[in-house]
Amino acid sequence: MNKGNLIYEGKAKKVYETDDKDVVLVDYKDDATAFNGLKKGTIVGKGVVNNKVTNFMMQLLEKEGVKTHFIKEVSDRETLVKRVSIVPLEVIIRNISAGSFAKNYGVEEGIVFDEPTIEFSYKNDDLGDPLINSYHAIALKLATKEEIELIKQMAFKVNEVMKKFFLSVGVELVDFKLEFGRTSDGTIVLADEISPDTCRFWDSKTHEKLDKDRFRRDLGNVEDAYNEMSKRILGQ
Ligand code: TMP
Repeated sequence: MNKGNLIYEGKAKKVYETDDKDVVLVDYKDDATAFNGLKKGTIVGKGVVNNKVTNFMMQLLEKEGVKTHFIKEVSDRETLVKRVSIVPLEVIIRNISAGSFAKNYGVEEGIVFDEPTIEFSYKNDDLGDPLINSYHAIALKLATKEEIELIKQMAFKVNEVMKKFFLSVGVELVDFKLEFGRTSDGTIVLADEISPDTCRFWDSKTHEKLDKDRFRRDLGNVEDAYNEMSKRILGQ
């Protein structure tokens, strides 16, 4: 499959056309941003880790019955995925309090919830990705009621599969962000990435942070954390 024109360049990835109109090629960069692009940096090797970790998780989820955009990894940093139109929602699931949840609601980090929570942000950089509820999403025509229901079900299923997997590699899945897309025939599939950029991972024993919070909060050993997660997930 030939790499065609650049369609889109985001903060962490580039997307290219291919010979097939229903297939695009994603190319993962080492660029890192936080706080809506205000903080910028490089995490050496991040693109390779995020590409491979995402592909591992997408394949695991497919096996468990979750439809995803994944087609085929073609190099260390590049993967073929189904072309989708992204539903402009960031879907966030939380198992343990951290980040904006702890800040917004005035609680400490590390409270284990009885039930996972779900929230939506409107994916819009100019507005700073504001938190919205499902009624707002429908009013804004970001998705239909049926799509929102399906997205919720899929997101909780992803959480069950991932929580179990990460526990088996000694990691607590604190929270994560998902994005969904519509394929050319309108099917909702899990899209974007699942990586240390988009999840919070804490070591089960030491509670050491093994994700992008090391970059966001200037905690040091950022590359080490990405490599450690790669080793635990992929065994390399
Ligand atoms: P938050 O606690 O800052 O709201 O983040 C919740 C989860 O979502 C966390 O795992 C990091 C992830 N996330 C993204 O993937 N992209 C973003 O732009 C933000 C703000 C969070």
